[in-house]
Amino acid sequence: MKSAPLLEANNVSVRYANGEVALRNLTFQVDQPSFVAIVGPNGSGKSTLLKTALGLLEPYQGDMRVLGFDTISQSASIRKRVRYVPQRDRIQLTVPLKVKDIAVMGRLLKKSPPRSASDEDINRTHEALEMVNMDELSDRPFNELSGGQRQRVLVARALAGEGPLMMLDEPLAGTDAESQNLIVDALGEYHKDTGVNVIMVTHDLNPIHTLVKDVLMMKNSLVGIGTPCDVMDPKVLEKVYGPGARVLEYAGHRYCVTRDSGVDRH
Ligand SMILES: Nc1ncnc2c1ncn2[C@@H]1O[C@H](COP(=O)(O)OP(=O)(O)OP(=O)(O)O)[C@@H](O)[C@H]1O
Ligand SMILES: [Mg+2]
Repeated sequence: MKSAPLLEANNVSVRYANGEVALRNLTFQVDQPSFVAIVGPNGSGKSTLLKTALGLLEPYQGDMRVLGFDTISQSASIRKRVRYVPQRDRIQLTVPLKVKDIAVMGRLLKKSPPRSASDEDINRTHEALEMVNMDELSDRPFNELSGGQRQRVLVARALAGEGPLMMLDEPLAGTDAESQNLIVDALGEYHKDTGVNVIMVTHDLNPIHTLVKDVLMMKNSLVGIGTPCDVMDPKVLEKVYGPGARVLEYAGHRYCVTRDSGVDRH
């Protein structure tokens, strides 16, 4: 039997309580398995799209399905299957949790209470921390880490979890080249080995261009959908980034130069 589409939006529009329409008439389908990149400038609705897919925001028009489940009537089924890494994590630490405590949470939160960690939980967590080169710091207090190290731990928390879909909102923001490579390589390998779907919001396609199968280019409405090369189209880019955007071709690759994200290679 063919599996349900990964994402399906049917004329979806979302507005916030203040009346601001953040998503306008989105209609698209992405099949699984996929590694999806959601790109677009600040305020273009990328985070709103992820929150809508999780059922945290309700469209005032249209409907969305994730893995075949309706985001409103079946949101519990979606949340059970999704590992979500929010933008700029908002874990407020009143107790000094260690790296390993944060990383194991992805597994514990999906259990019913009393939520104690089994040997398998602990082993999977260590493996995930190793994938992003953070296992050596697993006993360090999380709030003593640098921003890039924290991002790696949060990605490890998602990698240690279970469920056929990972959603990450700008996991590369504020990371240096080393952290970026560790995160990208870990996600890429994991996706290839397990077939788990990845949906990642990013400002810069360049670090993940070889992994990505489908790109959604947003500017509140959907302005482009396709492979990285398809959306590196001068007309599409001008609609999103204005007349400053350029596409250069060199040695069989397309380079996208925008004021927003620098250079993207495809
Ligand atoms: N809680 C909120 N209440 C009101 N308006 C909001 C809220 N969250 C986001 N918005 C607005 O909705 C629009 C889309 O925001 P969103 O956070 O989805 O953008 P984004 O593409 O993720 O941006 P960024 O790249 O800065 O993370 C923006 O204009 C923003 O101001
Ligand atoms: Mg955002």
